[in-house]
Amino acid sequence: MTTSDSIRMEKLCYSVGGRTILEDFDFHLERGVNRTILGVSGAGKTTILKLLLGLLEPDSGSVYIGDLCITGLPESRFMNQRKRIAIVFQGGALFDSMTVGENVGYRLFEEGCLSQNEISTIVSEKLSFVGVEAALDLYPAELSGGMKKRVAIARALAADPDYIFFDEPTTGLDPIGVYNICNLMLRLQAEGKTTLMVTHDLVTAFATSQRFTFLHQANMLFEGTEEEMKASSTPEVREFLQPTDRSLFI
Ligand SMILES: Nc1ncnc2c1ncn2[C@@H]1O[C@H](COP(=O)(O)OP(=O)(O)O)[C@@H](O)[C@H]1O
Ligand SMILES: [Mg+2]
Repeated sequence: MTTSDSIRMEKLCYSVGGRTILEDFDFHLERGVNRTILGVSGAGKTTILKLLLGLLEPDSGSVYIGDLCITGLPESRFMNQRKRIAIVFQGGALFDSMTVGENVGYRLFEEGCLSQNEISTIVSEKLSFVGVEAALDLYPAELSGGMKKRVAIARALAADPDYIFFDEPTTGLDPIGVYNICNLMLRLQAEGKTTLMVTHDLVTAFATSQRFTFLHQANMLFEGTEEEMKASSTPEVREFLQPTDRSLFI
């Protein structure tokens, strides 16, 4: 495994509104090792994804995509590296004024490298992969929550990324919706994509990932496998896995 096959944070510090979100945070996402970052609401999970994509600038420390340190670089200098990563934002973040098909093809259209026919073929293929090809001409307002998430995944797949980030992909879904999203993530992994999910949903995490990072009060309190996490003696990890009355007061 070389560094060009990973995304990393080294000694990263980030604060917002006077609150420390990450303190000397080291993080490693290796290609082919699907990972979940766990933590309570407000722990800083979404912030980590934004920092890894270069959408936020750290106070100190570095982010690497492959061999390139993107920290401090203008976006134009790391666009090629960032194209290897797609993100499915919480809630989908679809454009309401565009149809499903336009949403999925939007980035390819903006890049201007492919013909309309080529884009249409890719859009159909990705919508069919996530099982919502019939929604091609619908608008986001006409979709259920589960369908919106699937369209958002199709949009993330359009540019054929190596890594896909998922921000709480199962929050707000019913059990069948959760099952569908887990299933999709496993199919993507089987096709060679590396997934990084952030969530507090343990069922989805354990169903889709090999390794786990637990974020608690700006620090990484655990990194390892499901078995190692379940055997952890760290009180905060145990509390997260099996909340007790005390959890109400953390
Ligand atoms: N622009 C901002 N201004 C002030 N506080 C913010 C801002 N963005 C995020 N935060 C705070 O940073 C913390 C981490 O946020 P976030 O990464 O969204 O957490 P998570 O995704 O784990 O729920 C939260 O406590 C949130 O209130
Ligand atoms: Mg979040």
